[in-house]
Amino acid sequence: MEILSFFTFLFSLTLLSTLELSFAADTITSRQYIRDGETLTSSSQRYELGFFSPGNSNNRFLGIWYKITPQVIVWVANRNKPIPDKTGVLTISSNGSLVLIDEGKRILWSSNSSRILANPEAQLLDSGNFILRESTDRSSENYMWQSFDYPSDTLLAGMKLGWNLKTGFERYLTSWRSVDDPSVTDFSYRLEINDAPQLYISTSSKKVARSGPWNGVQFGGIPMAHNKVFKPMVVHNEDELYYMYKPFDDTVLTRIIVNQSSGTMQRFVFNKGSGAWDILYSWPFDTCDHFEQCGANSNCRTSRTPMCECLKGFVPKSQDDWGTPQTTTCVKKSQESDCPDREGFLKLVRMKVPDNNWSNQSMNTQECRAKCLKNCSCMAYANSDISGKGSGCLMWSGDLTDIKECSGSFSWGQDLYIRVPASELGLIKFLDVLCSKIS
Ligand SMILES: *[C@@H]1O[C@H](CO)[C@@H](O)[C@H](O)[C@H]1NC(C)=O
Ligand SMILES: *[C@@H]1O[C@H](CO)[C@@H](O)[C@H](O)[C@H]1NC(C)=O
Ligand SMILES: *[C@@H]1O[C@H](CO)[C@@H](O)[C@H](O)[C@H]1NC(C)=O
Ligand SMILES: *[C@@H]1O[C@H](CO)[C@@H](O)[C@H](O)[C@H]1NC(C)=O
Ligand SMILES: *[C@@H]1O[C@H](CO)[C@@H](O)[C@H](O)[C@H]1NC(C)=O
Ligand SMILES: *[C@@H]1O[C@H](CO)[C@@H](O)[C@H](O)[C@H]1NC(C)=O
Repeated sequence: MEILSFFTFLFSLTLLSTLELSFAADTITSRQYIRDGETLTSSSQRYELGFFSPGNSNNRFLGIWYKITPQVIVWVANRNKPIPDKTGVLTISSNGSLVLIDEGKRILWSSNSSRILANPEAQLLDSGNFILRESTDRSSENYMWQSFDYPSDTLLAGMKLGWNLKTGFERYLTSWRSVDDPSVTDFSYRLEINDAPQLYISTSSKKVARSGPWNGVQFGGIPMAHNKVFKPMVVHNEDELYYMYKPFDDTVLTRIIVNQSSGTMQRFVFNKGSGAWDILYSWPFDTCDHFEQCGANSNCRTSRTPMCECLKGFVPKSQDDWGTPQTTTCVKKSQESDCPDREGFLKLVRMKVPDNNWSNQSMNTQECRAKCLKNCSCMAYANSDISGKGSGCLMWSGDLTDIKECSGSFSWGQDLYIRVPASELGLIKFLDVLCSKIS
């Protein structure tokens, strides 16, 4: 901020101190501010914004929480810049940005908006989104800045997890360091934009777990379809590619957090009866969800021993490695090429499909199969959309990695077709291969 405007701003703070908020407002304008102890409350009393101390810490942070459970913080502004005392003030600076300053008038956080506003106002919406806009432009959603664009560790209903494809701007979750410290860690939950988008948890840019690609219903490896609480969706258009969810019932509170201390992403639902937050599911779900728990071309099965098993048509590269997770790499049984004449596809059901590779949404299943069969480097195929009878095409070349057999009573996973020598398929399948080549 320029020296001049900074002093004008401080001066106006002193002058206008009689205008402090003494009522449950959801909006501040450039003439108002929020001091430690004062809060904004969204119109239906769902969310509250103000200063808080996390866990056993005495540090103060500006954040948003559920009014009904104030200990559940859903967003933090000054994550890496704690205020050691209660002198924090949030206001709108003379150029129209939100700024958080402390007693020493240091700027601890600002909204980083790129346009100077004439009549700015900041409002805490009932969605939990804290927005900054021109007060003359209330009807549009043309916000100058919004907290939903800068998530902390929490994904609320209506928030986007993913990418602006035009600008390369990514919205993703990063966990708190500990319950006492909301500072940003590299433990994150994000959307990977390959041909087929998938969610993953990573730390230091290493994948910890991946969801499997979005298949039109859910991310194959996270059992979220057919739940009664929320509808998951992936939006893909020219400008954006993101994951988002909506509760079926707007009065139901649900949230996702990414939690470094448990190493998981957790989905909570507020239980009105008990007044507590119940965990609907957490993910990684089981050992097989840990990224590349088993080596290449092997299948991870949580409930079996050994957990890792070579796919049909593959054998352990080294017999000594057998059964040792991660080190068991499997290689093709027969090295001499049968391809493409004496090969076919084996169907594996309820699979988290391999880490993704190539896709074509407009191909149908037959075209997909034919294209994969023709190309000897194609190792497997699957539908990219299983919402109807199955459509779209995913194909994998090279080693098949991070495959899991989805077990239990959930409805998850999908059919995966792996290329195997016809000798592995049995007579009927062999005929099937021949017939499909003739037809
Ligand atoms: C507005 O002021 C804030 C706080 O001084 C500063 O961080 C920001 O860069 C300024 N924005 C513009 C557009 O000048
Ligand atoms: C503020 O915006 C600039 C330019 O868009 C960007 O480089 C910078 O990282 C942003 N800072 C924060 C804290 O978001
Ligand atoms: C993260 O997980 C730890 C250990 O399970 C738990 O104590 C903590 O409350 C969780 N954090 C949040 C924000 O839920
Ligand atoms: C497919 O996977 C192979 C092996 O991991 C990799 O080299 C290639 O870049 C991937 N192709 C695409 C389109 O992602
Ligand atoms: C996808 O498949 C359709 C139908 O076979 C084809 O017309 C189209 O060219 C393919 N697109 C790409 C990028 O391969
Ligand atoms: C076979 O698949 C590989 C890997 O996807 C690709 O690079 C190659 O161009 C394909 N070959 C043919 C003939 O389509």
